[in-house]
Amino acid sequence: MDSPRQSDASTPLEPCSPVGVDTPATQSSVLFDGHLEELLRNFPLDQYILVTGGLGFIGSHTTLELLKANYNVIVIDNLSNSFQNVFDRIQTLASQYHEQQGTKTPSLHLHAHDYRDTVALRDLLQQYQITSRWGTLKSKISGVIHFAAYKAVEESIRNPLKYYSNNVSGLVDFAMTLGDFGIKTFVFSSSATVYGTLATSGLPLKEELCVHKEELFTEHSGSEKIVQSGCTGITNPYGRTKWICEAILADLAASDPEWTIVALRYFNPIGCDESGLLGEDPRQTPTNLLPVVVKVMTGQYKELQMFGTDWETEDGTAVRDFIHVTDLARGHIAALSTANDGKLVENFRTFNLGTGTGHSVREVVETMESVSSKHIPRKAAGRRAGDVGSCVAVATRSQDELQWKTEKTLKDACVSLCNFLDVSGLSS
Ligand code: NAD
Ligand code: WQD
Repeated sequence: MDSPRQSDASTPLEPCSPVGVDTPATQSSVLFDGHLEELLRNFPLDQYILVTGGLGFIGSHTTLELLKANYNVIVIDNLSNSFQNVFDRIQTLASQYHEQQGTKTPSLHLHAHDYRDTVALRDLLQQYQITSRWGTLKSKISGVIHFAAYKAVEESIRNPLKYYSNNVSGLVDFAMTLGDFGIKTFVFSSSATVYGTLATSGLPLKEELCVHKEELFTEHSGSEKIVQSGCTGITNPYGRTKWICEAILADLAASDPEWTIVALRYFNPIGCDESGLLGEDPRQTPTNLLPVVVKVMTGQYKELQMFGTDWETEDGTAVRDFIHVTDLARGHIAALSTANDGKLVENFRTFNLGTGTGHSVREVVETMESVSSKHIPRKAAGRRAGDVGSCVAVATRSQDELQWKTEKTLKDACVSLCNFLDVSGLSS
């Protein structure tokens, strides 16, 4: 994928939203004869992307790709599900990359606090404010990518308020504060989980199936139907937090055209940076397929339980749209660049980030076996509560509107995970 900014971090970037009243149009035309926009475009501003949850699995990979694409990055992470050493690893990889390219490494700052700590947040945002030549305040932060959330489905059923507090209440206060500082370009980590039981309906999982205002949906047959806003059959509080956050953000965008909001619905992210230095290394016990497979490979678990071997799929095991986390990370950069270029179809837009192709649980295990030349002990087990047999994206909207598509394969993801095991000294 083309990086939106090819040169070093000091390249003049597009100006960010002003705080308070902007320069009046009349003043601009008098002073600059209509060339104000061009002038501003060439006005050198050090710009930053604020990334919450930037040390987590997807956040760390996205932070690295942002740095590679010459964005300066500020990370807020309270380390509730990640470790401080990830920060050093991102820094190392970004420096290595820019050294090879002969370019300057953009800056990376960590603020290790809860993104819900409004006092700390305001303090941070004040540090990145500048006064324009017209005396108005501007933020050097030109966009936000919001990963910080809790994500364990089973825990969300046991402790829903923990999830609503961090994922939903946190987002409301966060957006309010960002708005106060005029920071209104926002990329949100959503999930294919918002499709709920639509995943099993047989309908292709297009974005128009789950909407926040009435939309037209074109069926496979070509016939059109109206889809009402709402969600269908979301089975757990975690999934509901994602849907509610999308709805809140859609309302916010509708209320204020200055906001540009993208909700990215991830399918099943797997793999890691090919260096093996970044990986999925949560504090919480993982329950997702690949982290469990890795635990079996390292001998921490005796065997993999394959939940469900009687699904209506080719080999009976469940099918998912597994997307390499590096591809996913680059999808965020495509979204940010499209949003900042003012090229979004609407100021709230949802996108599936998936490959468009499904692989079964059995296929994943066999690919990992072939790549690692290791046998992975497994046994058939009953279906896991709340699972669906198949969940695969229709990935055309992101291709058409973000000019982004996946490049990496399931095998690439398995190879990268083997590198991770080697680097961590876990492979035997
Ligand atoms: P992760 O747990 O690895 O990363 C989340 C990061 O956010 C962690 O580093 C954690 O310490 C931090 N964090 C959590 N709450 C915070 C808070 N209140 N303040 C500051 N930092 C906080 O998770 P991930 O897999 O990287 O997921 C990132 C986002 O993507 C989440 O919003 C998740 O819901 C969403 N998502 C993940 C998947 C997936 O399969 N991994 C799929 C769809 C959507
Ligand atoms: C994939 C398949 C399991 C573990 C979850 C969330 C979803 C999203 C992505 C955040 C299923 C099977 C798994 C194991 C197995 N997260 N499996 N043995 O359930 O598709 O999606 O993560 O938004 O919201 O629900 O992903 O990796 O857990 O499972 O057989 O030990 O692997 O049953 O069929 P899932 P997963």
